[in-house]
Amino acid sequence: MATIVQEPKTASDLRHHKLAQWVEEVAQLTQPEHVRWCDGSPAEYDEMLRLMVQAGTAIPMNAEKRPHSIFVRSTPADVARVEDRTFICSRSQEDAGPTNNWRGPAEMKVALNKLLSGCMAGRTLYVIPYSMGPIGSPIANIGVELTDSPYVVANMHIMARVGTKVLEVLGQDGEFVKGLHSVGLPLGPSDQDSPWPNNPTEKYICHFPETREIVSFGSGYGGNALLGKKCHALRIASVQARDEGWMAEHMLILKLISPEGQVKYITGAFPSACGKTNLAMLIPTVPGWKVQTVGDDIAWMKFGPDGRLYAINPEAGFFGVAPGTSMKSNANAMLSVTRNSIFTNCALTPDGDVWWEGMTDTKPAELSDWLRRPWTPACGHKAAHPNARFTAPARQCPVIAPEWEDPKGVPIDAMLFGGRRANIVPLVTEAFDWQHGTFLGSTASSETTAAAAGKVGQLRRDPMAMLPFCGYHMGDYFAHYLKIGSRPGAKLPKIFYVNWFRQDDKGGFLWPGYGENSRVLKWVFERCNGTSHAVDTPIGRLPQPGDLDVRGLDISAANLAKLLSVDVDGWLAEVPLIREHFARFGSHLPQGLRDEVDRLEQRLKAAKK
Ligand code: OXD
Ligand code: MN
Repeated sequence: MATIVQEPKTASDLRHHKLAQWVEEVAQLTQPEHVRWCDGSPAEYDEMLRLMVQAGTAIPMNAEKRPHSIFVRSTPADVARVEDRTFICSRSQEDAGPTNNWRGPAEMKVALNKLLSGCMAGRTLYVIPYSMGPIGSPIANIGVELTDSPYVVANMHIMARVGTKVLEVLGQDGEFVKGLHSVGLPLGPSDQDSPWPNNPTEKYICHFPETREIVSFGSGYGGNALLGKKCHALRIASVQARDEGWMAEHMLILKLISPEGQVKYITGAFPSACGKTNLAMLIPTVPGWKVQTVGDDIAWMKFGPDGRLYAINPEAGFFGVAPGTSMKSNANAMLSVTRNSIFTNCALTPDGDVWWEGMTDTKPAELSDWLRRPWTPACGHKAAHPNARFTAPARQCPVIAPEWEDPKGVPIDAMLFGGRRANIVPLVTEAFDWQHGTFLGSTASSETTAAAAGKVGQLRRDPMAMLPFCGYHMGDYFAHYLKIGSRPGAKLPKIFYVNWFRQDDKGGFLWPGYGENSRVLKWVFERCNGTSHAVDTPIGRLPQPGDLDVRGLDISAANLAKLLSVDVDGWLAEVPLIREHFARFGSHLPQGLRDEVDRLEQRLKAAKK
């Protein structure tokens, strides 16, 4: 029988009968030594850090260099989201669609219950009530994560709003998403714990969309374990959004301010590790323009009474990819992680600070690498894991928008889709209308990165950057987009497709990216106002070289022309690939998207004549 080391702080949560009963059932099944209801206090956060340090999971960082921060290293078997172990357990296989792994809920529960039985022995079961989104916002949603990992508790403190204040909103009978997480490594009385407990052979990240439940077993890393993020805010929320007529998207939210002080809110969907955090915090190079951040990874959008889509960032922190982040590439991210942060799988400097590839031009002379080994620049391998991460409170971002926690959200003017493509796809394309924009998003493709386990650099279709995160049939997800677009009275954002990653024949980037992307944002802003020019092409509306503000940018006319040209033959060769991609969705593919690919082909053929 588990001892309760900390009861809920208010009477109201104890009166939530279903929650208390579920915690009790899970404790019976998993057999933890203790049960602790998290209150979300700073003292609780500090205690989690102390526990991790004691267990050898974490090292406190030099308080003069990174106050109140810790350095954590996992193990090679647990470094990224495990998409091949991620399941959508909808009642019917058809509903999970061709892009998700599926197992029937009853069958999966039997398998999970075997693994969960006694899996928390020797550990504490933490009950983390959390709100995705500002507490009490009509767009926010509550979840409760049960976990046996102090690392998860500490990260959830940063990434969500957690604790007693959430229980107060939940009251006696509020609805919540149930998330059960275990590292899957029970401890016997004489067992020595591992510094990074996880299950070396069994990993399961399971979603039960109809009952709004998540069960994650065996991994302690990132999106596998911080259940509010990908599991709740995207996979479960995408199903809630479909059922209730709103949108849960893998999108950053930025606020763009013109020199005259006019504001536009722009969302952007890009596959993992394609620079969403950089774009969300960009420092414009175009004089007088400013960017502020609302969110860097997820947007939840609901229609307001004026017919516009209002977005909130459901998260409260950044769980960003560290390698490549520097004062040059993203100064605002660097300034967000100066304190109160968690660094996972980075490298440690001799004076107790953190380092990763790309942070500085010169590599440090010596480090301790993410595998706990001594490292020097000559040793021939990377010091940080390519999916090393920082966890930092969003409020620490120097350019966080003052309204980032506005419960009603911010009205969205434009949406960007994109991916990492070395050729064919131009720098920016404006969709003709919402349906065409849905088509552009649905065909998004990218070369894979290290954010998910698997091969890096392979081309995959990643519709709306939601391939690993859509909790239902992706064909139905496209249909949901079209339904949103046909809502009576809807005043929809304009849709654009961008590609910062176009390369020349020698593999060099044609576009400098980072702060220079503000030139594209400025054009987008002005398209929303109807004040910048575009030409209709077979693939959408494109700026001509003179339409983009490139003053002060060192780019050759030839490169700019290439970035903004339509490679008709290249696109004609893409058409069968798009049809092949669409064929996966069978009868679930909406007719509107079939029409769009036919029209694209017709326009391209006409252009060739
Ligand atoms: C993330 C991801 O961690 O997309 O945001 O993998
Ligand atoms: Mn992401």
